[in-house]
Amino acid sequence: MKRRIVLMVVFSLFCMITKFENNCFAVDAKVETKAKYTIGFSQATITEPWRLLFNKELRIEADKYPEIELLVRDGLDDAQKQIADVEEFISRKVDVILISPKVAQDLTPVVNKAMDHNIPVIVLDRDLSNKKYTQFIGGDNKLIGRTAGEYAVKRLGGKGKAKGNIVEIWGGMAATPAQDRHSGFAESIRQEKGIKNLIPPKDGDWKQDLAYDIMADALEKFDKIDLVYAHNDPMAYGAFLAAKDMGREKEIMFLGIDAIPAEGIKWVNQGNLTATFLYMTPGAEGIRQAMKLLKGEKIAPNVVLPTMVIDSTNAAEILKKNGLL
Ligand code: FRU
Repeated sequence: MKRRIVLMVVFSLFCMITKFENNCFAVDAKVETKAKYTIGFSQATITEPWRLLFNKELRIEADKYPEIELLVRDGLDDAQKQIADVEEFISRKVDVILISPKVAQDLTPVVNKAMDHNIPVIVLDRDLSNKKYTQFIGGDNKLIGRTAGEYAVKRLGGKGKAKGNIVEIWGGMAATPAQDRHSGFAESIRQEKGIKNLIPPKDGDWKQDLAYDIMADALEKFDKIDLVYAHNDPMAYGAFLAAKDMGREKEIMFLGIDAIPAEGIKWVNQGNLTATFLYMTPGAEGIRQAMKLLKGEKIAPNVVLPTMVIDSTNAAEILKKNGLL
């Protein structure tokens, strides 16, 4: 028994040190070999450009495999509609379900139900309330939040000396990326006595117009705002517009997340946002992992997508590479 525990600890350490955990703990799902497969993709909403890019990248990847029939459903930003979409996939007995859940709690039971029906489920971008699914693919939102926090500290005077009033605008509070983006950021600014968070948590539901209202309210209440940290670029831009309408945009730094070239990176290059942090869409990777499963290969329980900082030092270069400058 003791030897087994020691072996397990050594194995886990090896996985951690070699950053090999994905392969060490690979999972396997029983999928029947067939000539044609159906993949059902349940998207939370298509109201934001990031979601449209996500769907586009997913479709481009799926088109590479003639053996796939892809069903895409739009949850219309409504958890009940999204539950019905997954129910439809279960009754059609699709071979794999991909889902990017609007919120964790409401979508967890139906994903668990799909797993009980032996349909593997790959969860994309936003997580669920339990781990009863085949694989999760997404960016490390805690790391993104921490990186944004470190960036804010640097721009507000540096470690131990930073000073400034901050407005944080949350994405959907019931969604895991918003929770992690908040806690990562909070971790980075916690030690800075000179940084003050001006407003209590406010749910911007990832939307530009809601963020505009939250910011307009904050601008009315506070004469000095130094930095806005919004959980995505559309909300950072909404906050920028609110400040611009009051002639105060030049005094404030705006940080967002996503870094879509035609959106966040363009806004950084125009000088509207100070920085954005890359949050890749998991569309293409979702299809690649589903294909592995369908071919009978083992897949990792967790795939983490990389991030990077985009500010005035590299925005133009990225836009050029994307043919947008
Ligand atoms: C799009 C979006 C992105 C954000 C992601 C978080 O719906 O709001 O802007 O990064 O969802 O899940």
